[in-house]
Amino acid sequence: MTQQDWVPGIIDTSAPSGARTYDYLLGGSHNFEADRAMADQVERAVPGIRAAARLNRAFLARAVRFMIGEGIRQFLDIGSGIPTVGNVHEIAQQEHPDCRVVYVDKDPIAVAHSELMLTGNDRAGMVEADMREPEGILTHPVTRSLIDFDQPVGLLFLLVLHWIPDDADPATLVSRYRSALAPGSYLALTHMTDDIQGDKIHAVAGVVRESRGAGQVFPRTRTEISTLFGDFALVEPGLVPTGTWRPGGAGDISDDPEMNELSFAGVARKS
Ligand SMILES: C[S@@+](CC[C@H](N)C(=O)[O-])C[C@H]1O[C@@H](n2cnc3c(N)ncnc32)[C@H](O)[C@@H]1O
Repeated sequence: MTQQDWVPGIIDTSAPSGARTYDYLLGGSHNFEADRAMADQVERAVPGIRAAARLNRAFLARAVRFMIGEGIRQFLDIGSGIPTVGNVHEIAQQEHPDCRVVYVDKDPIAVAHSELMLTGNDRAGMVEADMREPEGILTHPVTRSLIDFDQPVGLLFLLVLHWIPDDADPATLVSRYRSALAPGSYLALTHMTDDIQGDKIHAVAGVVRESRGAGQVFPRTRTEISTLFGDFALVEPGLVPTGTWRPGGAGDISDDPEMNELSFAGVARKS
């Protein structure tokens, strides 16, 4: 496949994107020179950060399987990213073929590749949207055709809410999604934190800030991240460093404690 085959429309490949930089850190191939340069800078600032990206994906798999164990059969994955190993619908439909999944992202390459991946799968769909427009996402025809909001939903916000600045009020934003969900729904979230590895995470935020990419990242404290769950009740072990949320096997937790501690992870239930 040549580059032209997978570059949708007119995008500025000279500016890095968060989605493509993360894809590169995960070992993916849907990225450009500018994305790789930013990823390399991030890696120089925090050697080993690729491990933290993989730990986040491993948490995604554990969170989805946990929710399926709790009876969840439909998922809304906000800021879903460029498809990579272990996408939500693959994990969910492997566990339970009836599961339905809606992916949402604003990055055109993430959208194009997700649509390609989902060709022929009538139980999963892609919505191109900015998460700051919850009503548009929740009422989108793709969402409405796949998700029954009278039944519990697994809502995922993984490594995405730190793109929302405080003045855009991330807590209120997430509450607009939470309030659309039926009792018994779950919210899973990972979020960059400066609580433990502050120097490292500020170095990452600095690289993003100095780049030509759109947006900045805003690491938050555990207390600030807790507010995003609203009145949902965190399941055990609560909001913890990502690698330490119910690690079950190889690849779930790093031997290097610092890589486990760049973000917090939690899963909470609506009663
Ligand atoms: C670091 S990736 C995380 C991907 C996936 N959730 C995971 O945890 O592996 C962040 C994703 O959020 C998307 N994103 C950032 N801001 C967004 C916004 N305002 N609306 C929708 N998607 C957004 C980016 O395009 C990117 O694909």
